[in-house]
Amino acid sequence: DGFTAEKLFNQGFSYTYDDVIFLPHYIDFPADAVNLSTNLTRRIPLSVPFVASPMDTVSESSMAAAMASLGAIAVVHSNTSPSNQASILRAVKSRRVPILSDPVFCSPSFVVEHDDAFANSPFLLITDTGTARGKLLGYVAKSDWTNRNDKGCQVKEYMSGPPVAVPWSAELSEIEKVMESKKEGAVALMRDEELVDVVSKEEVKRVRGYPKLVGPGSVGPDGEWMVGAAIGTREDDKERLEHLVKAGVNVVVLDSSQGNSSYQLEMIKYVKKVYPELDVIGGNVVTMYQAENLIQAGVDGLRVGMGSGSICTTQEVCAVGRGQASAVYKVSSIAYKSGVPVIADGGISNSGHIVKALSLGASTVMMGSFLAGSLEAPGAYEYQNGQRVKKYRGMGSLEAMTKGSDARYLGEKAKLKIAQGVVGAVKDKGSVLNFIPYTLQAVRQGFQDIGANSLQSAHDLLRSRVLRMEVRTGAAQIEGGVHGLVSYEKKYY
Ligand code: XMP
Repeated sequence: DGFTAEKLFNQGFSYTYDDVIFLPHYIDFPADAVNLSTNLTRRIPLSVPFVASPMDTVSESSMAAAMASLGAIAVVHSNTSPSNQASILRAVKSRRVPILSDPVFCSPSFVVEHDDAFANSPFLLITDTGTARGKLLGYVAKSDWTNRNDKGCQVKEYMSGPPVAVPWSAELSEIEKVMESKKEGAVALMRDEELVDVVSKEEVKRVRGYPKLVGPGSVGPDGEWMVGAAIGTREDDKERLEHLVKAGVNVVVLDSSQGNSSYQLEMIKYVKKVYPELDVIGGNVVTMYQAENLIQAGVDGLRVGMGSGSICTTQEVCAVGRGQASAVYKVSSIAYKSGVPVIADGGISNSGHIVKALSLGASTVMMGSFLAGSLEAPGAYEYQNGQRVKKYRGMGSLEAMTKGSDARYLGEKAKLKIAQGVVGAVKDKGSVLNFIPYTLQAVRQGFQDIGANSLQSAHDLLRSRVLRMEVRTGAAQIEGGVHGLVSYEKKYY
């Protein structure tokens, strides 16, 4: 009944996730028994098969800390200076909690004149020098200032004493214990006598309200959160890579929309030679031929997708790309023979797409828009037509390229810039710490329906031709969505 993937994807059509539907199989285990642990690359295991895209409206320090705490990972974008990209990595790797503020420092004689002073951080941290390097004397929370009648006095008059210090590696439960036993509203995370951050009781309470995280998160051999970083393939990217390696990067992604190039092949060989301990992800690719070249050059992971991203215009502008279901299946069918995990990048807009990507051979899914608009995504919330939104933009959009990301789309500094992406906004989604656990549960239910109790078992079903599927006609796609109602509200949890 139905078609095997082999038959379906060899008919000359480019299929995307929505075109394809799996036929259910046989269930003999509960959904909770589905194990989604996987490998990002040859040597990097993950307990959750999700990766945050290297985009400047998705992956910076807050996203990376949250993804690592969930057992997933983020790849920090390179649309910033090498030293700033490295300091984003350091911020992530200097804590074991999914909480990150951007501390603001001031001197004891500072006078707060406006609540703008708290715009980027819930606290002002008072040090003797007024900078991060000074001795921590105390802190002022926004409410300490707003509740005062006399707002014109110096912060030293009303600051709380220096918060109790805990080591940088303290986990949420340890921090909670210290707060309770010492009756503290905040603790200072310290590493080698330096202040990493201040964690407030409200923030701990917020995170505690989300579904319980299981497992220790994604911790690398150094005992720190794992985090990836994107680089390009130009000569100066070698210097960028050196900064990132010093900051402890766990995996590097060669960020290109067409990865099968002499520049990338050379860069893969360079990374493998100079940093043999570092896993390198190549891409993007969508064909078996492209994949083969990168595998031969020594990649440890392959990023798959061209033009399927929600903000992409590559297929329209350049006439190249592939439907994402076809691309993932085709590349996976060759990559697995060399033990190279595939990352299905782009085009994920619901949990069903994730089930399809993973069952068609991918080991992880990389997501941009699915994670954008979250609390952890960079940027501030704005209002558009009464809706709370955050900006989400393609790295090939003109706006992002003027900041430097043109290397990904143009290869080198081109005279005439043509955009391959757009700038938009996505709805406020709340914290990834809240919606990722629900998404994972939905994915487990999909796996249960096809009779796969693990990612490995899904791949076995695919290759042993047990997994059957069909193409949905236009009418079948309409039938598969909500239809025929005057109004409804879509709520998944
Ligand atoms: P989603 O669908 O998750 O896609 O939002 C994220 C992926 O899209 C790619 N990307 C782009 N592709 N023009 C493109 O053609 C762009 O401006 C652009 N920016 C990001 C990238 O692979 C990302 O992971």
